[in-house]
Amino acid sequence: MKDENTFMKLKNKVAIVTGASRGLGRAIAKRFAAEGAAVCLCARNGDLLRSVSLEILSRGGKVMFEQTDVADEQQVLEFVAACTSMWNGIDILVNNAGVLGSRNALADYSLAEWQKVMAVNVTGVFLMTKHVLPHFNNGGSILNVSSSVGRTPKVNWGAYAVSKFALEGITRLFAEELRSQNVRVNSINPGGVATEMRHQAFPQEDQNTLRKPEEILDPFVFLASDESRGITGQSFDAQNFKVK
Ligand SMILES: NC(=O)c1ccc[n+]([C@@H]2O[C@H](COP(=O)([O-])OP(=O)(O)OC[C@H]3O[C@@H](n4cnc5c(N)ncnc54)[C@H](OP(=O)(O)O)[C@@H]3O)[C@@H](O)[C@H]2O)c1
Repeated sequence: MKDENTFMKLKNKVAIVTGASRGLGRAIAKRFAAEGAAVCLCARNGDLLRSVSLEILSRGGKVMFEQTDVADEQQVLEFVAACTSMWNGIDILVNNAGVLGSRNALADYSLAEWQKVMAVNVTGVFLMTKHVLPHFNNGGSILNVSSSVGRTPKVNWGAYAVSKFALEGITRLFAEELRSQNVRVNSINPGGVATEMRHQAFPQEDQNTLRKPEEILDPFVFLASDESRGITGQSFDAQNFKVK
């Protein structure tokens, strides 16, 4: 953990991070805990969630986790209930969990694979947001993890690209609907970072040429924290971060 004298930007906040078992979500969980937040983590792999939780605990952080499929409403409800029974209310939600699907043209997608990608990347975000909303303390900040292919069409990104276009729409619609409740909703594109998903998308790439997830997290902390008060309904790039 940071030295006690260092200013922690998320002190006294409770943050949910989805897809926290590995990659970007794992790095966000560790950083938010180091910034003083109590973190509630979910993903499907319980062993990996346990290992990141132990890491956070060993550094003096506050953490709970529950094996959860974000596309399953009952599991989402149980996870949110477990989080709120441990800490009163929630302040931050990072909808990070995602799957890539196959790198094919849209017309070549099977219905089964289309539905799988949409279930996690779109329905999962809808369900988690819907069920966290009643538990926000005095307002809140939601970060939806997007992608460049959800802003500009690129061939062979299939259902993944469509799911991220939908995520941008969900971000803007929730931002308008929740403005009066002081809940802010923004999307953030991490850009290329060295993770399993990136390797799946670009198997020939040398991941040493990429930024590590830990290196791009300042904008995530800023958007989650009260420093970004008033900013909502916007799309950001973590590796070229500019406040509009
Ligand atoms: N890496 C990049 O270059 C890049 C670029 C642009 C956008 N992104 C976005 O960044 C986010 C994180 O990606 P990543 O690169 O860190 O990918 P990753 O290494 O594949 O990690 C994905 C995470 O999502 C979780 N997840 C997948 N399906 C889930 C489900 N049904 N329920 C709950 N959790 C689930 C995975 O955990 P389990 O398997 O344990 O469930 C894992 O923790 C994604 O939204 C991705 O689209 C990444």
